[in-house]
Amino acid sequence: MTKTHLSRRSFSAGLLAAPALLQGRQTRSDAARIQVDTRRVIGAIDPKLYGNFLEHLGRCIQGGIFEEGSPLSDKQGFRKDVMQAVENLHVPFLRWPGGNFSSNYNWRDGIGPRDERPRRLEMAWGTIEDNRFGTHEFLDYISRIGAEPYICANLGTGSWDEAQQWVEYVNFDGDTTTTRLRKKNGREKPWKVNYWGLGNEMDGPWQMGHRTAEDYGKFALEAAKLMHWTDPSIKLVAAGSSNFNADWIGWNRTVLQYLAPHVDYLSLHLYVGNPTSNYYEFQATPLELGERIKVTEGIINAAVSAQPKGKNIYIAWDEWNVWYRARGGEKERGRRILEEHYNLEDALVVSSFLNTFVNHAHIVKIANMAQLVNVIAPIFTSNKGLFLQTIYYPLQLFATYSHGTALDLQIESPTYKSKSRAAVPYLDASAAYNADGGLVFNLTNRHQDQPLDVVLEIEGKQLGSEAQVFVVTGPDIKSENNFESTTVKTVTGKPISTTPTSLKYTCPPRSYTMLKIS
Ligand code: AHR
Repeated sequence: MTKTHLSRRSFSAGLLAAPALLQGRQTRSDAARIQVDTRRVIGAIDPKLYGNFLEHLGRCIQGGIFEEGSPLSDKQGFRKDVMQAVENLHVPFLRWPGGNFSSNYNWRDGIGPRDERPRRLEMAWGTIEDNRFGTHEFLDYISRIGAEPYICANLGTGSWDEAQQWVEYVNFDGDTTTTRLRKKNGREKPWKVNYWGLGNEMDGPWQMGHRTAEDYGKFALEAAKLMHWTDPSIKLVAAGSSNFNADWIGWNRTVLQYLAPHVDYLSLHLYVGNPTSNYYEFQATPLELGERIKVTEGIINAAVSAQPKGKNIYIAWDEWNVWYRARGGEKERGRRILEEHYNLEDALVVSSFLNTFVNHAHIVKIANMAQLVNVIAPIFTSNKGLFLQTIYYPLQLFATYSHGTALDLQIESPTYKSKSRAAVPYLDASAAYNADGGLVFNLTNRHQDQPLDVVLEIEGKQLGSEAQVFVVTGPDIKSENNFESTTVKTVTGKPISTTPTSLKYTCPPRSYTMLKIS
């Protein structure tokens, strides 16, 4: 029986070297093995890895978090049931207002008395934007759910002035015409938003105001200067690659040539899917994420090496998810769009994305699942209620418990051969060493119909006597949730006993498990 034996850090190389098993041939004797040493660390897990995203798109905001006049909403128009689900998800970090929407958004349209705000033609997604949800509403929502805000400025059709004055309106304490306007609109003190995006997906021809890498780099540089001169403490995020069909490496390199001195993060976006209904191929898609992170890390290292000592730039994976069904180009125009219904196989891919972020915690410091409600989202509403999609559950477990330091695991796992990859491990895993000394293991068993025995051995530390078990699985890879029933959700298993240095656990087929040891 062949196994890969590799450190997370040398993942791709190990995979390519390993002879492959045929998919579906694995038997119960093919146990996986994980060796853990709490002294072998990857990096600090930034809580912002478990962020989400709100865009003026479809029913994400209107009919999602915000539904004025609904019996389910409060006086401000926030849906109370949705807010509860958002709070239970422990969203630490929320990006707004887009997305493609941000590239034609003038923030001044969304302030002042709601009834007097302009109605604008919204060209990214083919609707009318009534602007009843704007900066004040977003930042009120943020304070209600206790998250950190992240605003994406318009570097498409917008000007340097617009971006600068938005920072001034939101963050500046002095007395200017712009801050008087904020006060007139009911907010005396600045909010102090720390994270600002320099545009969205500027590498895509679909973007309003799309530019070449040089033109974007020059334009964003001037915006960055003005924004920093307004508030030197803000963290800026450059628009890196989303268009992997183009020269994505060249885009990142050029953008950083201009922006490295001014930015703290480089944004990347990745959506994956299963258009040919090939389960095993689909489960391998998170490997692409790891590979793109490694390449980008090299580009960042090269750019940072030319900067003064102490300068760091990190990856902000500020849009990611499974998205392929509700992606019909011209069909996806209007209000009920991008309403993807998720199943178990999607939830497993999501757990692997989260494993991958944790396994690159030294360089990936921001990640935003796109989006939060209705639009390719973990929460789905009607005007009568909501249900939690399958992908809600792995994100919730990670956001709740997977904190502290990411550990560099040695993993041996049986593998399968997919259409495009020689050897894909059945077991995908990550681990977090909590500040209080607890350990969390995230184990995804990609096998569709076989359990996977995992032996976990630890060095340099003793395990507590038992592990709590949380499992996300379901009767079928295509199992979905809906308004009537929740088939895929987190189930708390019977705690398992450990020895001081090891534990054995059998991952159910097609499952994600979190083991939590005090
Ligand atoms: O999240 C949906 C869309 O995907 C966003 O608006 C855009 O940035 C990306 O292409």
